[in-house]
Formats: sequence, C-alpha cells, structure tokens
Amino acid sequence: MNQTPHSQTTARYLDESSSSKQLWDRALAVMPGGNSRHTVVMDPYPVYAVKGQGCRVWDVEGDERIDFINNYTSLIHGHSDPKVTAAVTEVIANGTAFSLPTERDIKLAELLIDRVPYAQQLRFANSGSEAVLLALRAARAATGRSKIAKFEGCYHGIYDYAQASDSSRPHNWGDPKRPTTTLEPSMAASLASDVVTMPWNDIEVCRALIEDHASELAGVLFDPLPAALGLLEPRRDFVHFLREITERHGIMLVADEVLSFRVDHAGACTTYGIEPDLLALGKIIGGGFPVGAVAGKADVMAVFDHRDGEKVHHGGTYNGNPVTMVAGYETMAQLTVDSFEHLERLAAELREGMTRALSDRSVAHRVTGRGSLMMVLLTDEELTDFRSVARARAHSPQLAQIAKEMLHHGILLGQRGLFLALSTPMQSGEIEAFLRAFEQSLDALGIGSA
Ligand SMILES: Cc1ncc(COP(=O)(O)O)c(C=O)c1O
Repeated sequence: MNQTPHSQTTARYLDESSSSKQLWDRALAVMPGGNSRHTVVMDPYPVYAVKGQGCRVWDVEGDERIDFINNYTSLIHGHSDPKVTAAVTEVIANGTAFSLPTERDIKLAELLIDRVPYAQQLRFANSGSEAVLLALRAARAATGRSKIAKFEGCYHGIYDYAQASDSSRPHNWGDPKRPTTTLEPSMAASLASDVVTMPWNDIEVCRALIEDHASELAGVLFDPLPAALGLLEPRRDFVHFLREITERHGIMLVADEVLSFRVDHAGACTTYGIEPDLLALGKIIGGGFPVGAVAGKADVMAVFDHRDGEKVHHGGTYNGNPVTMVAGYETMAQLTVDSFEHLERLAAELREGMTRALSDRSVAHRVTGRGSLMMVLLTDEELTDFRSVARARAHSPQLAQIAKEMLHHGILLGQRGLFLALSTPMQSGEIEAFLRAFEQSLDALGIGSA
C-alpha cells in the first residue's frame, strides 16, 4: 500500500489540492451532481480512478486499493482479465460493430443457454435495465395483459414499470398489506395503476394481491436475492409460492438476476429450485462491457420472432456487438464450477472474519448474501421484508461511516453501506487485508466495545 501523509492511509484524495478534487470541480460544471450515475456518489466527493488490474484499483493520487465492489458486482474476474483483454483487443482491430450479425453473439447465447436449464432462447441488449424492460414487454406480449407486480423497494434498473416503488420510504409507503406504488416526480402518474406493489415474504398478502389483479397481470417481477432487502436469502416456500401462483393464473414469473446471477454456476433461481418463465441478465455476462440479456422458454421468447408477428419489436444499435460478446464469452467460459468453489471459500473466510470482529466488539449484526455477494447490517432484529431492512439501515448510520473509513484503509466498497462483491483473482491475502482494514476502521470509529 502507498504510504501517505494521512498516517499510512489511502486518503490523499481528501487534500484540497488533490487531483480528485480538481476533477470533481470540473465534473460539477458539466454534469448535474457531477456524475452520470448515482452509485458513484461519495461524501464529500468521489475518488477518481485511473487504473484497474485484477482485484486492485489505483486512483488519480496514486493510491492503491483492493476492489471489493467490482463495478457494482459486474467484474467477476476483476479488472482487465488477460483472456478478456486479449479477445477484445483482437476484435477491436477487426471492426467493433456491424450492420450484419456475427458468430460472436451466437457463441455467448449458446454458452448461457447451456448453463441455465430452463432458458431455451435468449436475446441481447446493452444494460440490465433494458433486459428487465424487454422481459416485462415480453410478458405483456405473451399474456395480452398489461399490469406488472413487483416487490416494494426493489431496484430493477430504470425502466419506469420496474423502478416504481423503488422510492418507497416510511412517509409514503402506506399500508403494509396494500403497499403504495410510489413514483418519482419524473414518472407518469398513470403508472401507479399498472404496477401492483407487494411485500416480500408475505405469502398471504401476496396471494390476495395477485388474486385481486390476476386477470390483468402480465408478470410478477422479482430478484431472488434483492440488494434492497439486504441480500437476505429468500424463503424457499415464498419463491415456490410465487412460481405456483403465477403458473396457476397464467402470469409470467420474471426473474431479475442482473445482480444475482453471479451466486452460482446456473444462477440464483436454480439454486433456490425454481424455474421462472423469463430471466433478465446483465453485469457479469458482459465481461466488463455494457450488456443485458433476456432469456426464457422458447414459446415465450417467440414474441420477439419477426417470423411470428414480432409482438415485441426489439432494436438496439449495439445489441450483440462483437466487443461485448467476446468479453462476455471469455468471462463466462472461465467461470467454472471450480471458480465458484474458490469464491465460496473466500466468502466463508470473509463472513467468518467479519462476524468475529463484530461479535468481539459486541456489535449486533447480520452478514447476509450468498456466495460472492454479501452485505453487513448492524442489527439483530428479525429481517423479513423491505420495511424491516429499511428500518435497520436507518438505525445504522455507522454503515456508511465504516465504508468511508475502509476507503481510507485501502479497501473499495459501495459507499451507501457495507455491500461487497468478490472477484476470482482474490486470494486469502486480500481477505486478510480486508479484515485488517475492517478492524482498524471499527477501532478508528469507536464502534463496539473491543
Ligand atoms: C437487480 C438489478 N436489476 C437491474 C439492474 C440494472 O442494470 P444496469 O445498471 O446494467 O442497467 C441492476 C443494476 O444494478 C440491478 O442490480
């Protein structure tokens, strides 16, 4: 690690004359809020990156950190993986986008379909948001219905129907048995009547809501491991109930695994023993390049088929572009069953170490998630739904403080809480470095009674 004037911390970006501060001033002049992506917001301003290699990133000050968030979970092999870099370099020299199809998207589609038992066909897009949009449009086209049901507080990207209720807060979330479909001021008010908001894990309330709207519901959208719900593992009876009730009413079950596909070789739904009708993918399958994909059973995916009436017109200038396709292929081809075992082993070391550090300090906590995805919540309350997790977060201002302190001890995390995504180049040494920084951060902030 770099030795800095900040007593061996990686906090040079905070100096008034730092390059990060100068970039921030320039960014504020040309972009509202100084960014094009709210997830890069940091207090008081972001650290600006200059380079990434494996599981490490360097900022414009020259400080090095271990990357424990990996572009919000998308870089499962870390930065500039050699095989991805070689494949992309070769493609770039031979044309990056054509008005003709290539073999590249067929290869990645074959690989993914081979892996996910219930996915028979697939189409590519350029972001997870588009993948969710296409899955919901397909659900409407396949059922001839227009309403969508989704879970309170869950983030599924920026398509209006998927983003509704993402802004639910205590002042607007309403009755727990009939949660209000909350909308941002940027959304059409009419959206509220086409989105049914449901509470996670409450079978009785969800049954009543689904049955009330059954004849109008095209799809039920869910993420098997939602970050907004603190990455709590789903109750098996709950996800099986969702499969059973949607099937009974001819409603498409739409799984958003843009984030959670990285938990297992065939993705999260397979782990929990259910087969959705439609699956939205993104992040890791693009190998570090913009990507989205919608997959599903062939009869449902037929709504995209131009030979069959093209019920969903699907354009996209960069869909299936060769650069993303080879990066995704090289990434997924290397992501073997052994890679998952490696990630699981590191994740177990990390979970155990964080649990020990917090227990030794008598800090109430939960380390949640599965496989390479994890979160820390500072509570011992029972967490079941968005509201219980939101309350726990509201009572844990230390989460953001710890994330910021970790930044000063050489560890990069999401700054809104303790949200981590491991990458395959990591070894036990990186986990030990994380745990050292974690203990130092808890001590620096005086958290707990060590
Ligand atoms: C569960 C989930 N769905 C959809 C998206 C949107 O993906 P993208 O940012 O690629 O549009 C995200 C992004 O974080 C996500 O976490």
